[in-house]
Amino acid sequence: AKLLQIAIDGPASAGKSTIAKLVAHNLNYVYCDTGAMYRSVTWAAIQKDIPLDNELELEKVLDDITIKFVPSEDGQQVFVNNQEVTKEIRMPKISNNVSTVAAQVAVRKYLTDLQQKIASAGGIVMDGRDIGTTVLPDADIKIFMVASVKERALRRYKENISKGIDTPLAILEQEIEKRDYKDSTRSISPLVKAEDAIKLDTTNLTIEQVIVKIMKIIEKKA
Ligand code: C5P
Repeated sequence: AKLLQIAIDGPASAGKSTIAKLVAHNLNYVYCDTGAMYRSVTWAAIQKDIPLDNELELEKVLDDITIKFVPSEDGQQVFVNNQEVTKEIRMPKISNNVSTVAAQVAVRKYLTDLQQKIASAGGIVMDGRDIGTTVLPDADIKIFMVASVKERALRRYKENISKGIDTPLAILEQEIEKRDYKDSTRSISPLVKAEDAIKLDTTNLTIEQVIVKIMKIIEKKA
């Protein structure tokens, strides 16, 4: 069978990574979490204590960064410059600053090139914000996954509680809205549904139901 490129985009906490991981597993494809790449660059920039909107300084960070994904039992571990940062890149400090870094042209160019290389052979499920529009405009399958802000905040809240993080629901809602706003209004590769993407509203669906829908879409293509 042809090795497909599958793009899954959408706003923050819509369930993209959970679903993308399962779809990749079902098909025996590679899963690529592009959000983790933007988070990794943000982490490295914060380590160096540079202004997060300073393009020139960010270019220096990109010059000697290595980002590695290593498969593990519960998903994958992320290494930046050989330091394990899997949990750290999910902390509020990163989540609340990543959109600033992700709006810089040099950063997007660097990561887009890298993502295109990773996806070039196909057999990939890639999730992010601009995969269907910019990174893989010719992807075989494009899904734009959405859910209400309330539902997304609630999912994040439950996930946080299981990790011992206790941010109030109302704050999570504000943070998610703020990040979506920044990601949707930036001038380069904003978060927007590709014209040919299939919109999938997961507000009232279980993970299992979403998987069934997506597998049907893929079967039709294959
Ligand atoms: O998917 P995740 O929430 O981990 O993404 C973190 C941030 O990285 C997003 O809010 C966005 O600013 C940026 N991002 C992006 N383009 C992508 C993936 C993520 O700009 N393809």
